[in-house]
Amino acid sequence: MESTEPDTFYDQHPFDWVPPDSSEPIRAVLSAPLVEWIESLAPTALVLDIGCGPGRVLGFLARRGMRCVGLDRSRVSVGLAAERYHRPGVVGDNLHLPFADAVADAVISDGVIHHTEDPQAAFVENWRILKPGGRMYLAVYKDSGRYPWLYRYPGALIRAGLRHSWARPLVALLARVPYFLVHFIRSRGRRTWGAAENLFYDYFVTPQVAFLPRSVVEDWCTQQGARVLSYDEGRGANVHSFCLAKEPSPKMPPSRDAVLAAEER
Ligand SMILES: C[S@@+](CC[C@H](N)C(=O)[O-])C[C@H]1O[C@@H](n2cnc3c(N)ncnc32)[C@H](O)[C@@H]1O
Repeated sequence: MESTEPDTFYDQHPFDWVPPDSSEPIRAVLSAPLVEWIESLAPTALVLDIGCGPGRVLGFLARRGMRCVGLDRSRVSVGLAAERYHRPGVVGDNLHLPFADAVADAVISDGVIHHTEDPQAAFVENWRILKPGGRMYLAVYKDSGRYPWLYRYPGALIRAGLRHSWARPLVALLARVPYFLVHFIRSRGRRTWGAAENLFYDYFVTPQVAFLPRSVVEDWCTQQGARVLSYDEGRGANVHSFCLAKEPSPKMPPSRDAVLAAEER
């Protein structure tokens, strides 16, 4: 888990908002399609969580006793995940995964590839490490709903404000405090200031974001031969999700010698 990479945005602001001992109901911190998808996996499946952050999903897998490995470009996030959930963590880049082809029974990419420089290449990398017959869960930002607008306009003001020390108190007063209050009320008092702060940075300040229409992701799937088992539009959420299947390897036809041997018997 050692790395000489410079700090990334998520080293300074990890996507850390679910405490390891969270008392929140699981469906308040994980999307319903992801929970159902995980529950449908074989208990022996090897699951790779690519862009695992501090282990929100890894923790759920670990509590179910599943074999899982987390990878993230943020060293701080990988450290938190490994320390909390006692599962192997790898610091690495989604665009060049340090895994062999076809090693994983299941791959999770929850809110990650839209933060990379090349979301399609990141998807293809995730697909490469999935075994034939394996399953993938992919959640990406939608191009509809209010979030693209919020990131582009109030987000641009917030990002500009945070670059100037004189404007930071204004950002705190006009954006961070109201954002925290909304989360505090919606979570019925469970969301801490620190957790809401990390969500705020992911929501408005993260430097690299792509909004990906359903048709774009489906085109990538067609190009990779990925079968879309189910799609969830993520009503009211910022992301939509795709459950994908990689076709099993076609069965090799029996060799001529095997056919002759069978005929002789
Ligand atoms: C919004 S967080 C999601 C974390 C986690 N998947 C979750 O749902 O809780 C996005 C994560 O993607 C990671 N990330 C962004 N670009 C990456 C890349 N090129 N390679 C690996 N991880 C990356 C960030 O470090 C961050 O932890």
